Amino acid sequence: MGEPIIEISHLMKTYKLGGETVHALNNVSIEIKKGEFLAIIGPSGSGKSTLMNMIGCLDRPQSGKYLLDGKDIGKMNDNQLAMIRNQKIGFIFQNFNLLTKLTALENVELPLLYAGLPAKQRREKALEGLTKVGLIERAGHLPTQLSGGQQQRVAIARALAGNPAILLADEPTGALDSKTSIEILEVMKELNELGHTIILITHDLAIAKQARRMVSIQDGELLENGGEPIGNIAIY
Ligand SMILES: Nc1ncnc2c1ncn2[C@@H]1O[C@H](COP(=O)(O)OP(=O)(O)OP(=O)(O)O)[C@@H](O)[C@H]1O
Ligand SMILES: [Mg+2]
Repeated sequence: MGEPIIEISHLMKTYKLGGETVHALNNVSIEIKKGEFLAIIGPSGSGKSTLMNMIGCLDRPQSGKYLLDGKDIGKMNDNQLAMIRNQKIGFIFQNFNLLTKLTALENVELPLLYAGLPAKQRREKALEGLTKVGLIERAGHLPTQLSGGQQQRVAIARALAGNPAILLADEPTGALDSKTSIEILEVMKELNELGHTIILITHDLAIAKQARRMVSIQDGELLENGGEPIGNIAIY
């Protein structure tokens, strides 16, 4: 820990719709270091998904600067962005996004297939990932044969498979009950302790508080909270 993996400065993203201008990201600056576990919290419409798309290299800054592992994302073309995404970012979504016809193990292997890894290594890495999330004994199950929390564990193992620099999770517990949410957060904490950098996006304060650092976003502006809720943040 100590070295920055993400350096964002004065980032702007503006949408124009029917004569109205929305500043979805308004002068956002943040530095995230390797090994951090950061939560970004904000109410609906505050700019969370817009920021996630930026951090995840699904979008480029309109103005301002984004350095990911020292690389200037604003200067990349679409192919370069896709390559950086594949190498550097493991995505975790609210609805797991598993392929229903593939087993847990095959779902985890899939990104490694795209990355061109030989079959034996794919299997080894996927088994390693399922072990990390405590699901090795369900490797042969289809998603329909798994609980919501187990499906999210498979999705986390899949996100881990390519050994990305960052795990980026958008409302990872949004589809889970509170007990299962706690289990998933425990998995994320364990992964963070193993050295993985985690960015967790949520509207839920109880979830955000589990991270080691919390920032909030409101009307496209980022505020550093120092880990404590401020103002009316508790109503999220
Ligand atoms: N494609 C678009 N065109 C116009 N406005 C958009 C577009 N996408 C997002 N916005 C606006 O930008 C702002 C931020 O949206 P964003 O999706 O980032 O919010 P969010 O924090 O992820 O919300 P939620 O919690 O509901 O998912 C909102 O005011 C939204 O209406
Ligand atoms: Mg959103």
